[in-house]
Amino acid sequence: MCRLRFLFNLSIVLTILVLLFYLFTIYDNDNSKSQLRLFKAENVEPMEKAIKLDNDYNLWLIFTKVIDKSPLMYNFNNLLNNLMNVSSVPLNFHIIVDEHSRILAQSEINKIINATSINVQYTFYDIQTLAASIQDIVNAMTPFFSSRPGTYYSDALFYLSLGLHRIAKTQNRAIILDCDLHFKEDVLLLFKEFDNFGNGTLFGLAPELSPVYRHILYSFKQKHNSTFGDFYHDKEVKAGEPHPKGFQGYNSGVILFNLSAIRKSEAYREIIKKESVSAMVEKFKFRGHLGDQDFYTLVGYERPEMIHTLNCGFNRQLCTWWRDRGGYNDIFNDYFKCKHKIVVLHGNCNTRILK
Ligand SMILES: *[C@@H]1O[C@H](CO)[C@@H](O)[C@H](O)[C@H]1NC(C)=O
Ligand SMILES: *[C@@H]1O[C@H](CO)[C@@H](O)[C@H](O)[C@H]1NC(C)=O
Ligand SMILES: *[C@@H]1O[C@H](CO)[C@@H](O)[C@H](O)[C@H]1NC(C)=O
Ligand SMILES: *[C@@H]1O[C@H](CO)[C@@H](O)[C@H](O)[C@H]1NC(C)=O
Ligand SMILES: *[C@@H]1O[C@H](CO)[C@@H](O)[C@H](O)[C@H]1NC(C)=O
Repeated sequence: MCRLRFLFNLSIVLTILVLLFYLFTIYDNDNSKSQLRLFKAENVEPMEKAIKLDNDYNLWLIFTKVIDKSPLMYNFNNLLNNLMNVSSVPLNFHIIVDEHSRILAQSEINKIINATSINVQYTFYDIQTLAASIQDIVNAMTPFFSSRPGTYYSDALFYLSLGLHRIAKTQNRAIILDCDLHFKEDVLLLFKEFDNFGNGTLFGLAPELSPVYRHILYSFKQKHNSTFGDFYHDKEVKAGEPHPKGFQGYNSGVILFNLSAIRKSEAYREIIKKESVSAMVEKFKFRGHLGDQDFYTLVGYERPEMIHTLNCGFNRQLCTWWRDRGGYNDIFNDYFKCKHKIVVLHGNCNTRILK
């Protein structure tokens, strides 16, 4: 009896204990779940998304032949700080350097890392090594688009973007930026432009905002009624043209690359060959001096499907040389105008950027 009672009591105590334990764990579970949910909603989900795309926010910068305290050094530092401030996504920097510039770049990056809690991901690439891997492209382009062929690797710098798909072997998409840029808006807006790429689009570039290509195409335009080199009109001026609303050419301060598409493109492999470049140059009596952007401009006219035209707000150039000294005072503003929201300012030809 006593024993039974004891067992009975014990079972009650145990039941209560089990119940309590059960309640406690449910409560605890629920609590941790809701905490987890809250945490997830606020932190984990966007981070998970970001991590999936992490490798995809590739920004390439060229930082070579740098002298300490030079304008390039100043621009580089400003741009890195600026990008950290305006980016809502984790960026991967890929910086092309020579031996000496690498030391300067590293010290600038250390300063920035020291000043922020943001995790900066960066990789250095040696220009000498890269130059070797794109030598065929450089050889095909240099005779047509360089004002005066220079040293082995200064030429490579001008045409590096055309071989980025070989250099950035494991990347699917990337953006190359000049160092004289300032972002007024989130750099993510630029990456979102990839969504506007059409089937078969390889590159994204914004228009050149000066009449330089009208100038270069002068003799072609005297013989042919073409929109190539014309400033952009709101209405179609010539139906049936690849660019019926005019075509100012492209500026290479900001370039988007679908690298996987470029690697797969037979048409691209063809068009970067010397014979193709030579044929295009011949056709348009084109004598350039602006390196890769001359090539993109010709491709933009001959193979418009390869290039997505970003609006001018993504590369708002500020250089007014063609108005002030280039002799195009009368029509300069037709080329220079930009009605779109400014995302990126470009202080080209050493123009100071007033933020
Ligand atoms: C961001 O902006 C502030 C103020 O404009 C500036 O002081 C800072 O150096 C910038 N860079 C970073 C990485 O925070
Ligand atoms: C970071 O800044 C602090 C204070 O200005 C300085 O003492 C330290 O040496 C810096 N570290 C690096 C890695 O630059
Ligand atoms: C994309 O272009 C390729 C080659 O021009 C063509 O074969 C394919 O059908 C196109 N796909 C779509 C969805 O338009
Ligand atoms: C060029 O073509 C447009 C329409 O295609 C025409 O209106 C214009 O008169 C032409 N200009 C010349 C100089 O032939
Ligand atoms: C890049 O091109 C590939 C085809 O090679 C396509 O599958 C992919 O969607 C493209 N990506 C972008 C961002 O346009």
